Amino acid sequence: MTPAKRALVTGASAGIGRAFAAALAAAGYTVTAVARRADRLAELLSEMGPGHDHLVADLSTADGVRATTDLLTREHYTVLVNNAGTAVHGDFAATPLDDSLAVLDLNCRAVVALAHAFLAGAEPGAALVNVSSTLGHTPKPGMSVYSATKAFVTSFSESLWHEQKARGVHVFALCPGVTATESQQADDVPSWLVQTPQEVVAHAIDALAHRKGPTVVSGRRNAVLTTVTRLLPRTAALALLGADREPAHRKGASSESALITPPNR
Ligand SMILES: NC(=O)c1ccc[n+]([C@@H]2O[C@H](COP(=O)([O-])OP(=O)(O)OC[C@H]3O[C@@H](n4cnc5c(N)ncnc54)[C@H](OP(=O)(O)O)[C@@H]3O)[C@@H](O)[C@H]2O)c1
Repeated sequence: MTPAKRALVTGASAGIGRAFAAALAAAGYTVTAVARRADRLAELLSEMGPGHDHLVADLSTADGVRATTDLLTREHYTVLVNNAGTAVHGDFAATPLDDSLAVLDLNCRAVVALAHAFLAGAEPGAALVNVSSTLGHTPKPGMSVYSATKAFVTSFSESLWHEQKARGVHVFALCPGVTATESQQADDVPSWLVQTPQEVVAHAIDALAHRKGPTVVSGRRNAVLTTVTRLLPRTAALALLGADREPAHRKGASSESALITPPNR
């Protein structure tokens, strides 16, 4: 008998995760939507129709990760989308350490813990999508911890792609470029470079259907830009990606104590 199609999506209350949950529900999956905002999850569930469920969990905490890994261990999921992620903006040394550590916990620690729980029970045909970023390929001054976490997610996923393919479990890193979401207004980015969450998810659904990997960059333009920045000498790539940065000593301390949220890339 074909196993039931069941997907767990983290960060499903907004942006790319919400679009993922909606697309998987439309494709016949029973979806568990995970995030912190219960009201947003309830709204999503009412849009997706009956049969889906949600879990309120803060994945930057040990309790939130445990609640989610317990669910992954207890229930039989065929797809896990590790999507929840956030960023700290500003010079690393001028932003609170706790903010950066919370980003590490969410973007890396939770991804590893959930992947482990999912893969322990995964059967042939199952799929794990780790949402990384085009910034996982190049360091980004002003988002140093974020781009380093995404390099981790991409590298981790590539190794898992290789390890899991013999048992028929499909793993890939999804690398969106600039995507218009709540946390990424993208006002400063040329419109031809900005994708919608639905466009990003369409690439991921295609990658799931055709078992693409180990890395899937969202769209041809992002793929070209990623290739160009990878080919540049590292100092040139840093100059390009850090061009929007002013020297720290010219900025006031308050503007450097940047927010922990948006914009993500
Ligand atoms: N937007 C872009 O340009 C872009 C580009 C490349 C990669 N990405 C990556 O794509 C993913 C989604 O980004 P997005 O732009 O769609 O983000 P978003 O619109 O800000 O949504 C983030 C989602 O993550 C959830 N979340 C945040 N912190 C959480 C926590 N501690 N525990 C559980 N859930 C948490 C949020 O829900 P609650 O607040 O309800 O918890 C929300 O559902 C991230 O991994 C991001 O790094 C985004």
